[in-house]
Amino acid sequence: MNRVLAHTGARYPILQAPMGWIARTPLASAVSRAGGLGIIETSSGETAACQHEIRQMVALGLPFGVNLPIRFLKDDAMLRFVCEAGIRFVTTSAGSPAKFIAPLHAAGIKVYHAVPTLELALKCVDAGIDGLVVEGSEGGGFKNPEEVSTLVLLQAIRERSSVPMIAAGGIVDGRGMAAAFALGAEGVQMGTRFVASAESPVHAHYKQAIVAADATGTWVLNKKSTPCIRALKTSFTQVIHDAGLMPADTFKGIRQVYFGGEMDAAPALAGESAGLIHEVLPVARIIEQTVAEFHAISARMGAMAAAASFG
Ligand SMILES: Cc1cc2nc3c(=O)[nH]c(=O)nc-3n(C[C@H](O)[C@H](O)[C@H](O)COP(=O)(O)O)c2cc1C
Repeated sequence: MNRVLAHTGARYPILQAPMGWIARTPLASAVSRAGGLGIIETSSGETAACQHEIRQMVALGLPFGVNLPIRFLKDDAMLRFVCEAGIRFVTTSAGSPAKFIAPLHAAGIKVYHAVPTLELALKCVDAGIDGLVVEGSEGGGFKNPEEVSTLVLLQAIRERSSVPMIAAGGIVDGRGMAAAFALGAEGVQMGTRFVASAESPVHAHYKQAIVAADATGTWVLNKKSTPCIRALKTSFTQVIHDAGLMPADTFKGIRQVYFGGEMDAAPALAGESAGLIHEVLPVARIIEQTVAEFHAISARMGAMAAAASFG
């Protein structure tokens, strides 16, 4: 039995990543309806709005999860709300999940923490985490400046722990999913792929910028300070790249990027995976194609194993 399916209740072990303002009911419900697992964000810090989104998802009766970015939570209001909302799956990120695990477990909720390093993964396992979202440096959004790729990080963690792993960073389809499973993952999480989906709420300019980008179309920025991020190469991020650091108010225009399509109002977060995304597709097509490709590749690998051949 696939443990990610057992823990989430989804039909397929394909998660939509938490993304501030973007990962709300329209996108999350499309993913969950298509058999994946939608995740509702709380990193926007808009407590009332996020609680409304969570209530809407509960009312829809679809499996889904909530992300709690520990460092960005102002108080424990969101934690308490989640514990009482009838949710079965939470991902935590940005900080130590140690204090969150006991109350979430008491509410019957499975907890996976997003980790960019082996060291943090082992701390989470010691603290009693149920699973890990293994986030390689290819991924979009906030990053650890000590870059470890998804390919290496999955193997490094699997060498030292047997907890379920959801691979994130660089995955857009069944090829990436099959590769992640070969390295020990039992699920995948996609961010950039779902940003460029028909049901994603972001402006068409953002989706088209992802489609237009190639695999070298992003930068890791602000590596010497915090937060370190991966974002599309734009005129706005060129300035940060050249300066080597990011002003404190860098994200003030993020909603203009997301919803106004002003690509130079703030960093347009995206992963290297943008180079693998060639068209905006409906969420259901993305998930169907991912599952079909995953099974086709698994069958090819199985045939190779059966024939003791290499192709
Ligand atoms: C536009 C965008 C916004 C993101 N915002 C958040 C966020 O608010 N909180 C978070 O934990 N991760 C955030 N991430 C990271 C994703 O959760 C995920 O780890 C990442 O997208 C995976 O890599 P991929 O983009 O190659 O699929 C964001 C990613 C993107 C592309």
